Amino acid sequence: MKVLDSKLMKSYARMASDGYAQGWHERNGGNLSYRMTRAEVEELKEDFHYDGEWKTIGWQKEEESAFPGLAGEYFLVSGSGKYFRNIEPDPEANTAIIQLNDAGSRYRIVWGLKDGGRPTSELPTHLGNLEVCKARDENIRVVYHCHPANIIALTFVLPLDSRVFTREIYEMITECPIVFPEGIGVVPWMVCGGKLISDATKEIMKKQDVAVWAHHGAFCCGYDFDLAFGLMHTVEKAAEVLVKVMSMSDRKRNTITPAQFRDLNEPFGVKINEAFLYEKKDGTIGQLPED
Ligand code: 13P
Ligand code: ZN
Repeated sequence: MKVLDSKLMKSYARMASDGYAQGWHERNGGNLSYRMTRAEVEELKEDFHYDGEWKTIGWQKEEESAFPGLAGEYFLVSGSGKYFRNIEPDPEANTAIIQLNDAGSRYRIVWGLKDGGRPTSELPTHLGNLEVCKARDENIRVVYHCHPANIIALTFVLPLDSRVFTREIYEMITECPIVFPEGIGVVPWMVCGGKLISDATKEIMKKQDVAVWAHHGAFCCGYDFDLAFGLMHTVEKAAEVLVKVMSMSDRKRNTITPAQFRDLNEPFGVKINEAFLYEKKDGTIGQLPED
């Protein structure tokens, strides 16, 4: 089968357009990766070419950017500098399927980027996340990065602390702790595209499904495109509510209490991490547990 006719490419491109429609992908902002199943590779490989050069991943030395847990696997990724709004009209120019070598230290393009280019500059973070996510749950295949305005805005006013970010977001929409009971990790500002930010994000993704990058955007993971998109959508919606609340007042008159959050565990079959359910002074926004 041709990649362009596949359900995989159609779902990938639809997600790119959905993210663009949300306003999360100005210019070339954001990137999306998908770890292909064996069956998908089998179905599509007649459309692949195997004469591409093996290239190093990211800026750092080859041995420092190896992803042995993903050796030999295939990924559908967005191209660096490519615009999300152009993916659905022309996937072959704006995305690529890449294969990793047996050491997981180099990649080659087997399909796509037909007018030239290279995979996203955030490839080290995508592969790092996909590697640790696969280790904790084989079914996690999607890693998504975008620039949602409300999440970014909050990184200027809340302490850059995972507990505070999670708790404040949780209080905004009851569904949040059910959708991501392990909460949100926060990475302080760092140079994007490099090993440091890749390592910091990887640490978060070992346990959590969402990582906020201060003054930049967010990453999330999921089993499929619906879940990854839905997760980002949920976090950004809650962030939008918080921005609205904070623009009306620096205190909340009413909110969801830790005891009420615990009441969600049983009916929804989740175990909300207790680290986020600390006692707060009445109505405060952005309070650390130790304050
Ligand atoms: P790329 O165009 O290289 O994917 O970079 C976009 C981006 O959002 C960097 O963080
Ligand atoms: Zn970015």
